[in-house]
Amino acid sequence: MSFFRKKREQSTLASLKIPKHLAIIMDGNGRWAQKQMMPRVAGHKRGMNTVKEVTKLASDAGVQVLSLYAFSTENWRRPADEVSFLMKLPVTFFDNFVPDLMANNVRVTTMGDIESLPANTVEAVHKAVEETAANTGMILNFALNYGGQAEIISAAQALAAQVADGTLSPQEIDKSNFEANLATGFLGELAQPDLMIRTSGEERLSNFLTYQSAYSELYFTDVLWPDFGAADFQAALEAYTKRDRRFGGLNPKEK
Ligand code: FPP
Repeated sequence: MSFFRKKREQSTLASLKIPKHLAIIMDGNGRWAQKQMMPRVAGHKRGMNTVKEVTKLASDAGVQVLSLYAFSTENWRRPADEVSFLMKLPVTFFDNFVPDLMANNVRVTTMGDIESLPANTVEAVHKAVEETAANTGMILNFALNYGGQAEIISAAQALAAQVADGTLSPQEIDKSNFEANLATGFLGELAQPDLMIRTSGEERLSNFLTYQSAYSELYFTDVLWPDFGAADFQAALEAYTKRDRRFGGLNPKEK
Protein backbone atom coordinates (compact mmCIF):
# COMPACT_ATOMS: atom_id res chain seq x y z
CA MET A 1 0.00 0.00 0.00
CA SER A 2 1.31 3.45 -0.89
CA PHE A 3 2.19 5.93 1.86
CA PHE A 4 -0.52 8.34 0.65
CA ARG A 5 -3.26 5.67 0.47
CA LYS A 6 -2.35 4.53 3.96
CA LYS A 7 -2.49 8.13 5.23
CA ARG A 8 -5.89 8.65 3.56
CA GLU A 9 -7.33 5.48 5.16
CA GLN A 10 -6.00 6.52 8.55
CA SER A 11 -7.56 9.95 8.28
CA THR A 12 -10.96 8.50 7.29
CA LEU A 13 -10.84 6.09 10.22
CA ALA A 14 -9.99 9.00 12.51
CA SER A 15 -13.32 10.66 11.67
CA LEU A 16 -15.32 7.56 12.59
CA LYS A 17 -16.94 6.55 15.85
CA ILE A 18 -15.33 3.30 16.96
CA PRO A 19 -17.45 0.73 18.82
CA LYS A 20 -15.80 -0.32 22.09
CA HIS A 21 -17.28 -3.81 21.70
CA LEU A 22 -17.82 -5.11 18.18
CA ALA A 23 -19.56 -8.47 17.69
CA ILE A 24 -19.67 -10.30 14.36
CA ILE A 25 -21.81 -13.16 13.08
CA MET A 26 -19.53 -14.52 10.37
CA ASP A 27 -21.99 -15.98 7.86
CA GLY A 28 -21.87 -17.08 4.24
CA ASN A 29 -18.80 -19.33 4.12
CA GLY A 30 -20.78 -22.20 2.58
CA ARG A 31 -22.39 -20.01 -0.10
CA TRP A 32 -19.04 -18.43 -0.93
CA ALA A 33 -17.56 -21.90 -1.56
CA GLN A 34 -20.56 -23.05 -3.59
CA LYS A 35 -20.23 -19.98 -5.81
CA GLN A 36 -16.63 -21.00 -6.56
CA MET A 37 -17.70 -24.66 -7.12
CA MET A 38 -15.68 -25.62 -4.07
CA PRO A 39 -16.63 -27.79 -1.07
CA ARG A 40 -18.22 -25.90 1.85
CA VAL A 41 -15.15 -26.38 4.02
CA ALA A 42 -13.09 -24.31 1.54
CA GLY A 43 -15.33 -21.40 2.55
CA HIS A 44 -14.54 -21.95 6.23
CA LYS A 45 -10.82 -22.00 5.43
CA ARG A 46 -11.11 -18.68 3.59
CA GLY A 47 -13.29 -17.42 6.45
CA MET A 48 -10.43 -18.10 8.82
CA ASN A 49 -8.22 -15.73 6.81
CA THR A 50 -10.92 -13.07 7.09
CA VAL A 51 -10.80 -13.58 10.88
CA LYS A 52 -7.06 -12.76 10.78
CA GLU A 53 -7.63 -9.67 8.64
CA VAL A 54 -10.57 -8.31 10.62
CA THR A 55 -8.74 -8.89 13.93
CA LYS A 56 -5.94 -6.64 12.66
CA LEU A 57 -8.37 -4.02 11.30
CA ALA A 58 -10.36 -3.90 14.54
CA SER A 59 -7.28 -3.76 16.73
CA ASP A 60 -5.76 -0.96 14.60
CA ALA A 61 -9.05 0.97 14.71
CA GLY A 62 -9.10 0.92 18.53
CA VAL A 63 -11.88 -1.61 19.12
CA GLN A 64 -11.51 -2.91 22.70
CA VAL A 65 -13.44 -6.19 22.40
CA LEU A 66 -14.05 -8.16 19.19
CA SER A 67 -16.49 -11.03 19.76
CA LEU A 68 -16.73 -13.57 16.92
CA TYR A 69 -19.42 -16.24 16.57
CA ALA A 70 -17.29 -19.18 15.42
CA PHE A 71 -19.41 -22.20 16.42
CA SER A 72 -22.91 -22.24 17.86
CA THR A 73 -24.53 -24.95 19.97
CA GLU A 74 -26.77 -25.53 16.91
CA ASN A 75 -23.84 -26.08 14.50
CA TRP A 76 -23.50 -29.69 15.73
CA ARG A 77 -26.45 -30.45 13.42
CA ARG A 78 -24.18 -30.08 10.37
CA PRO A 79 -22.68 -33.10 8.56
CA ALA A 80 -19.99 -34.83 10.64
CA ASP A 81 -17.15 -34.03 8.20
CA GLU A 82 -18.00 -30.31 8.25
CA VAL A 83 -18.18 -30.27 12.08
CA SER A 84 -14.85 -32.03 12.26
CA PHE A 85 -13.30 -29.46 9.88
CA LEU A 86 -14.72 -26.58 11.93
CA MET A 87 -13.21 -28.12 15.08
CA LYS A 88 -9.76 -28.14 13.45
CA LEU A 89 -9.95 -24.45 12.50
CA PRO A 90 -9.02 -23.07 15.94
CA VAL A 91 -6.02 -25.43 16.00
CA THR A 92 -4.75 -24.17 12.61
CA PHE A 93 -5.65 -20.59 13.42
CA PHE A 94 -3.84 -20.41 16.76
CA ASP A 95 -0.84 -22.46 15.51
CA ASN A 96 -0.26 -19.84 12.82
CA PHE A 97 -1.58 -16.66 14.31
CA VAL A 98 -0.49 -16.44 17.96
CA PRO A 99 2.80 -14.65 17.04
CA ASP A 100 0.75 -11.95 15.23
CA LEU A 101 -1.61 -11.69 18.20
CA MET A 102 1.41 -11.22 20.48
CA ALA A 103 2.88 -8.57 18.15
CA ASN A 104 -0.45 -6.70 18.22
CA ASN A 105 -0.89 -7.09 22.01
CA VAL A 106 -4.20 -8.97 21.46
CA ARG A 107 -5.60 -11.16 24.24
CA VAL A 108 -7.68 -14.24 23.36
CA THR A 109 -10.73 -15.16 25.45
CA THR A 110 -13.65 -17.53 24.88
CA MET A 111 -17.33 -17.94 25.62
CA GLY A 112 -19.27 -21.20 25.46
CA ASP A 113 -18.90 -24.82 26.47
CA ILE A 114 -15.26 -25.25 25.41
CA GLU A 115 -14.62 -28.39 27.46
CA SER A 116 -17.08 -30.42 25.32
CA LEU A 117 -15.01 -29.81 22.16
CA PRO A 118 -12.50 -32.41 20.87
CA ALA A 119 -9.38 -32.67 23.08
CA ASN A 120 -6.93 -31.13 20.57
CA THR A 121 -9.29 -28.17 19.98
CA VAL A 122 -9.57 -27.61 23.75
CA GLU A 123 -5.79 -27.80 24.04
CA ALA A 124 -5.19 -25.27 21.22
CA VAL A 125 -7.75 -22.85 22.68
CA HIS A 126 -6.34 -23.11 26.24
CA LYS A 127 -2.81 -22.59 24.92
CA ALA A 128 -3.78 -19.43 23.00
CA VAL A 129 -5.69 -18.06 26.01
CA GLU A 130 -2.70 -18.71 28.30
CA GLU A 131 -0.04 -17.38 25.91
CA THR A 132 -1.90 -14.12 25.31
CA ALA A 133 -3.24 -13.68 28.88
CA ALA A 134 -0.89 -10.81 29.75
CA ASN A 135 -1.63 -8.81 26.58
CA THR A 136 -3.33 -5.50 27.32
CA GLY A 137 -4.66 -4.50 23.89
CA MET A 138 -7.83 -5.68 22.14
CA ILE A 139 -9.67 -8.72 23.53
CA LEU A 140 -10.40 -11.26 20.76
CA ASN A 141 -13.34 -13.15 22.20
CA PHE A 142 -14.32 -16.39 20.40
CA ALA A 143 -17.80 -17.83 20.89
CA LEU A 144 -17.23 -21.56 20.51
CA ASN A 145 -20.00 -24.04 21.25
CA TYR A 146 -21.93 -20.99 22.44
CA GLY A 147 -25.68 -20.30 22.59
CA GLY A 148 -27.29 -17.17 24.06
CA GLN A 149 -30.34 -18.93 25.52
CA ALA A 150 -28.22 -21.63 27.19
CA GLU A 151 -26.04 -18.85 28.62
CA ILE A 152 -29.07 -17.12 30.20
CA ILE A 153 -30.38 -20.43 31.62
CA SER A 154 -26.97 -21.20 33.07
CA ALA A 155 -26.83 -17.77 34.79
CA ALA A 156 -30.32 -18.42 36.23
CA GLN A 157 -29.17 -21.82 37.52
CA ALA A 158 -26.07 -20.32 39.18
CA LEU A 159 -28.14 -17.69 40.97
CA ALA A 160 -30.84 -20.24 41.91
CA ALA A 161 -28.11 -22.41 43.47
CA GLN A 162 -27.03 -19.45 45.62
CA VAL A 163 -30.65 -18.89 46.68
CA ALA A 164 -30.99 -22.60 47.52
CA ASP A 165 -27.88 -22.57 49.72
CA GLY A 166 -29.04 -19.40 51.46
CA THR A 167 -26.26 -17.04 50.26
CA LEU A 168 -28.66 -14.94 48.14
CA SER A 169 -32.33 -13.98 48.47
CA PRO A 170 -34.59 -13.87 45.37
CA GLN A 171 -35.02 -10.10 45.91
CA GLU A 172 -31.25 -9.62 45.72
CA ILE A 173 -31.14 -10.92 42.11
CA ASP A 174 -30.46 -7.84 40.02
CA LYS A 175 -28.89 -6.66 36.75
CA SER A 176 -25.45 -6.60 38.27
CA ASN A 177 -25.26 -10.15 39.70
CA PHE A 178 -27.20 -11.58 36.75
CA GLU A 179 -24.74 -10.05 34.27
CA ALA A 180 -21.77 -11.22 36.35
CA ASN A 181 -22.99 -14.80 35.82
CA LEU A 182 -23.19 -14.54 32.03
CA ALA A 183 -20.29 -15.73 29.86
CA THR A 184 -19.39 -12.06 29.31
CA GLY A 185 -19.17 -11.36 33.07
CA PHE A 186 -15.40 -10.99 32.82
CA LEU A 187 -15.82 -8.07 30.37
CA GLY A 188 -17.55 -5.90 33.00
CA GLU A 189 -18.89 -2.69 31.46
CA LEU A 190 -17.69 -3.77 27.99
CA ALA A 191 -19.98 -6.84 27.96
CA GLN A 192 -22.66 -5.37 25.70
CA PRO A 193 -21.72 -4.99 22.02
CA ASP A 194 -22.07 -1.44 20.69
CA LEU A 195 -22.26 -2.75 17.14
CA MET A 196 -23.23 -6.16 15.84
CA ILE A 197 -22.45 -7.08 12.23
CA ARG A 198 -23.89 -10.04 10.33
CA THR A 199 -22.60 -10.85 6.88
CA SER A 200 -24.29 -12.70 3.98
CA GLY A 201 -27.68 -10.98 3.89
CA GLU A 202 -29.36 -12.89 6.73
CA GLU A 203 -31.04 -10.50 9.16
CA ARG A 204 -31.28 -12.24 12.53
CA LEU A 205 -29.09 -12.73 15.59
CA SER A 206 -29.27 -16.56 15.73
CA ASN A 207 -28.81 -16.92 19.49
CA PHE A 208 -25.65 -14.75 19.62
CA LEU A 209 -25.29 -12.53 22.70
CA THR A 210 -29.06 -12.65 23.20
CA TYR A 211 -29.05 -10.79 26.53
CA GLN A 212 -26.14 -8.47 25.72
CA SER A 213 -27.50 -7.24 22.35
CA ALA A 214 -30.49 -5.43 23.94
CA TYR A 215 -29.17 -2.01 22.84
CA SER A 216 -26.66 -3.02 20.16
CA GLU A 217 -26.73 -1.27 16.82
CA LEU A 218 -27.29 -3.91 14.13
CA TYR A 219 -25.58 -3.83 10.75
CA PHE A 220 -26.40 -6.33 8.03
CA THR A 221 -24.45 -6.63 4.80
CA ASP A 222 -24.89 -8.89 1.77
CA VAL A 223 -21.12 -9.46 1.57
CA LEU A 224 -20.21 -13.09 2.30
CA TRP A 225 -17.77 -13.51 5.21
CA PRO A 226 -14.81 -14.76 3.11
CA ASP A 227 -15.13 -11.60 0.96
CA PHE A 228 -15.44 -9.18 3.93
CA GLY A 229 -12.45 -6.82 3.79
CA ALA A 230 -11.13 -3.39 4.81
CA ALA A 231 -13.66 -1.44 2.69
CA ASP A 232 -16.57 -3.43 4.17
CA PHE A 233 -15.22 -2.92 7.70
CA GLN A 234 -15.01 0.79 7.04
CA ALA A 235 -18.57 0.87 5.59
CA ALA A 236 -19.90 -0.76 8.78
CA LEU A 237 -18.13 1.83 10.94
CA GLU A 238 -19.46 4.63 8.74
CA ALA A 239 -23.02 3.34 9.23
CA TYR A 240 -22.42 3.03 12.99
CA THR A 241 -21.06 6.59 13.14
CA LYS A 242 -24.39 7.88 11.74
CA ARG A 243 -26.53 5.99 14.25
CA ASP A 244 -28.20 7.93 17.03
CA ARG A 245 -27.88 5.82 20.19
CA ARG A 246 -30.39 6.86 22.83
CA PHE A 247 -30.68 3.76 25.08
CA GLY A 248 -34.38 4.54 25.64
CA GLY A 249 -33.73 8.18 26.51
CA LEU A 250 -33.82 11.33 24.41
CA ASN A 251 -31.17 12.79 22.17
CA PRO A 252 -29.52 15.69 24.10
CA LYS A 253 -30.70 18.20 21.47
CA GLU A 254 -34.35 17.06 21.93
CA LYS A 255 -34.32 17.56 25.69
C1 FPP B 1 -21.18 -19.57 8.82
O1 FPP B 1 -21.14 -19.82 7.45
C2 FPP B 1 -19.90 -19.83 9.42
C3 FPP B 1 -19.66 -20.76 10.39
C4 FPP B 1 -20.69 -21.63 10.95
C5 FPP B 1 -18.32 -20.97 10.90
C6 FPP B 1 -17.56 -19.71 11.12
C7 FPP B 1 -16.15 -20.00 11.30
C8 FPP B 1 -15.16 -19.29 10.70
C9 FPP B 1 -15.37 -18.12 9.85
C10 FPP B 1 -13.76 -19.61 10.97
C11 FPP B 1 -13.53 -19.54 12.44
C12 FPP B 1 -12.16 -19.36 12.73
C13 FPP B 1 -11.63 -19.65 13.92
C14 FPP B 1 -10.27 -19.23 14.17
C15 FPP B 1 -12.34 -20.37 15.00
P1 FPP B 1 -22.13 -20.91 6.87
O2 FPP B 1 -21.40 -22.21 6.78
O3 FPP B 1 -23.37 -20.97 7.69
O4 FPP B 1 -22.41 -20.35 5.45
P2 FPP B 1 -23.74 -20.54 4.60
O5 FPP B 1 -24.85 -19.87 5.37
O6 FPP B 1 -23.42 -19.83 3.31
O7 FPP B 1 -23.95 -22.00 4.43
